[in-house]
Amino acid sequence: MDQAEGLRRMQRRPVKVITVASGKGGVGKTNVVGNLAVTLAKAGRQVLVFDADLGLGNIDILFGLAPKHNISHVLQGEKSMDEILVQGPHGIWILPAASGVAGLAQLDAHAQARLIDAVSALDMPLDYLLVDCAAGISGDVLTFSRAAQELIVVLANEPASVADAYALIKVLSRHYGQRRFHLLPNMVRDARDGQALFAKISEVADRYLDVALDWVGSIPLDPAVRAAVRIQRPVGDAYPNSPAALAFDALAARVQSWPLPKGPGGQVEFFMSQVLNAGAHEESA
Ligand SMILES: Nc1ncnc2c1ncn2[C@@H]1O[C@H](COP(=O)(O)OP(=O)(O)O)[C@@H](O)[C@H]1O
Ligand SMILES: [Mg+2]
Repeated sequence: MDQAEGLRRMQRRPVKVITVASGKGGVGKTNVVGNLAVTLAKAGRQVLVFDADLGLGNIDILFGLAPKHNISHVLQGEKSMDEILVQGPHGIWILPAASGVAGLAQLDAHAQARLIDAVSALDMPLDYLLVDCAAGISGDVLTFSRAAQELIVVLANEPASVADAYALIKVLSRHYGQRRFHLLPNMVRDARDGQALFAKISEVADRYLDVALDWVGSIPLDPAVRAAVRIQRPVGDAYPNSPAALAFDALAARVQSWPLPKGPGGQVEFFMSQVLNAGAHEESA
């Protein structure tokens, strides 16, 4: 690293890395990530969304984008990071999912090094990196959750979702010593319903786990969300006064109140190397 490069890195803004996970699929992670990203962008923040879900219903589809390339092309050395990034509504950046890549944790040393290099070469001012996780409690989900500075667990008011959210929190606290979790009830009737759901899970967690759960508010079940999905637009653009749009405004305000990181934790490449190191660790364990 030469002097100019060192200076450039130092002058970078610290980036806040937030992973959004759920345990169960279909509870609204991708919608939360997409709409939170857009709401932060509208507030003047630079946001990059890392689509870490290889399944269906990706963030690019949410906003009607059609990326030609994805992270697998970077890993194969065919494209640089800049070439695969796509821009979404309000200037949010999206790093498309890597179809055909089994999992970042399973990459060989060569591919990992390539990925770190590619991420380090990203020369853009960023305030937030949002990671949209796959469903389940697989290696990658745990890895992204541990490497992030903040973890938002999305859950819906149904037994399977509550159980899976709890299972995720349990694994992360028992096996990896993670203590802080933000909980976001989605598709709830109203704020009271969301608070009741939070109370339910935190009561059990307080009894059996050594964790600090934080209620970040909730997103109501709102036909405006589905209607916005159908026309592939952010709900705040299509239906600015809908209950869901207002809830995303409140969520973004909450997220912006979190302190920004200082030091190496606030860099995208640091996050990436944490992700990859954790993966290597898991394999040898
Ligand atoms: N608050 C909400 N109100 C109404 N529908 C919602 C809400 N959140 C998500 N949905 C719908 O639920 C489905 C699953 O959402 P998605 O974000 O793809 O979930 P996940 O990423 O967790 O699998 C989508 O059809 C989406 O439109
Ligand atoms: Mg999803």
